[in-house]
Amino acid sequence: MNIVKQSPSVLVFDSGIGGLSIYNEIYNKIPNAHYIYVFDNEMFPYGDKSSEFLINRVNSVIEAVTKFYPIDLAVIACNTASTICLPSLRAKFSFPIIGVVPAIKPASLLTKNKCIGLLATKATVERTYIADLIKQFASHCTVKLLGLSELALIAENKLQGISVDMKQLKELMQPWLGLQIIPDTIVLGCTHYPFIKTELQTLFPQVSLIDSGYAIATRVCNLLNDKYNLDQIIPSASENIVLSTVYTQSIEKLIKKLSDYNLNKYHDIKVHGG
Ligand code: DGL
Repeated sequence: MNIVKQSPSVLVFDSGIGGLSIYNEIYNKIPNAHYIYVFDNEMFPYGDKSSEFLINRVNSVIEAVTKFYPIDLAVIACNTASTICLPSLRAKFSFPIIGVVPAIKPASLLTKNKCIGLLATKATVERTYIADLIKQFASHCTVKLLGLSELALIAENKLQGISVDMKQLKELMQPWLGLQIIPDTIVLGCTHYPFIKTELQTLFPQVSLIDSGYAIATRVCNLLNDKYNLDQIIPSASENIVLSTVYTQSIEKLIKKLSDYNLNKYHDIKVHGG
């Protein structure tokens, strides 16, 4: 093993604050790494964008970041982007890139009634990637898909102090609440949704709600451990950084919140393209 004492720089990317659910799991496992959390608030939400647009845009954002910051590993902490952008990103950048995709396989192993729900953005549920994932791992199950555009925004608002309107959430979940056989395992297939897990659990009290956070953190840890001795790295002297693609008034509120996550230094970053 090549012992490098300097802490690796890990980029975590999402369209918004959803990626924090992934970042948080990684940070808890590897607090000594240096983190750059990047969110594309200029183009949020990704769930209603075309595949072609997203491929160009995500490549442009990551490229813009790498002009200023050397990156050792990137996590695309967005299911909507990962299910379409990973091949192009991996072809373009030389550092390892980990994607976040819905936890269909773990759900298929966990379900007792063989009925799984995938809750995700509209774009994610329509991807061929998802159809292939289901075919590969959950062909023995009934898989219900629910693609919603509102939920990511509800989660963004919650993080900024606006509480969830339970009546609205119940209406959005109606397609599943009315089912004869309700999935006993629901995959939270958008990184924003762990932030509204408590509210979703109130509507589905008997159901297991699962996400990809812990598995991704383990994968990041294993990959970095191959190259760095994580027990021996010296904590990064630089502060963890937050970058957004546009400065808005609500960023101020968010910045305060982000310091709870040990993300202390904010900049905006201009992105051309997409
Ligand atoms: N957090 C993103 C995901 O995991 C998408 C939210 C959005 O921008 O629509 O899919």
